[in-house]
Amino acid sequence: MSRRPIMAGNWKMNLLQNDAKSLIEGIKSGLKELNKEQLPEIIVAPTYTSLSVVSNMLSECSCGKIALAAQNCHYETSGAYTGEVSVEMLKDIGCKYIIIGHSERRQYFSETDEMINKKAKAILNGGLLPIICCGETLEQRESGVTDEHIASQIRAALSGISNEDIAKSVIAYEPIWAIGTGKSCDAVEANRVIAMIRNVVEELTNSQTAGSIRILYGGSVKPATIEEQMSMSDIDGALIGGASLKSDSFNEIITNSMKVAV
Ligand code: PGA
Repeated sequence: MSRRPIMAGNWKMNLLQNDAKSLIEGIKSGLKELNKEQLPEIIVAPTYTSLSVVSNMLSECSCGKIALAAQNCHYETSGAYTGEVSVEMLKDIGCKYIIIGHSERRQYFSETDEMINKKAKAILNGGLLPIICCGETLEQRESGVTDEHIASQIRAALSGISNEDIAKSVIAYEPIWAIGTGKSCDAVEANRVIAMIRNVVEELTNSQTAGSIRILYGGSVKPATIEEQMSMSDIDGALIGGASLKSDSFNEIITNSMKVAV
């Protein structure tokens, strides 16, 4: 089953509005050089404060649509939740995707599997698509519980969601020890874990759904690593942090990803 690759940039808590504008200009001009027919789906996830400025620029893009993502959301629809942002607000500003369950949110903001499941449901009910992150710590990897841990994160995140909604969702496997460290997970091993995730999705749903859901790899993705990663059977794209903050490296990742026939 062919799944359209995704190259998604997670800008984290970086870039002021003007920097965001320049980065989008750079991405757009790099994309003009590439064959539109073969482009992966490109997603950018700016901070909340740059969503508006980026959204306005993306709707004018002549090189095909770059999709907008938020980095988080709240699961309630509205009300007394000071500091939070709803799915409807993110839809209103032009988002198509929302990243949830990033390890930084789990670690620094105490997000639980239950909250991530509520967010996934709120996103899908609101007509947007979740990018659900999962991943193990170095300690978990070294003690041999990686698969068990990831499977339980995925089962919890997808609990109570219909097969149809699961098929449209995106999962990102991001080993925590590979995030921002420059030390990307070996592509064969990343592919093994991602295939295991696809099996868990199949157990929860059916083979068609498992064959449709796109599962990305994230963790120190660079222009030099993407080709090998994209040559793997189950890796459908990348969630890119540091290397997505400069248009040169982000565009090079996109270009190199396209060298692999899908
Ligand atoms: P990195 O971040 O590419 O800087 O390792 C990836 C992520 O956290 O999504």
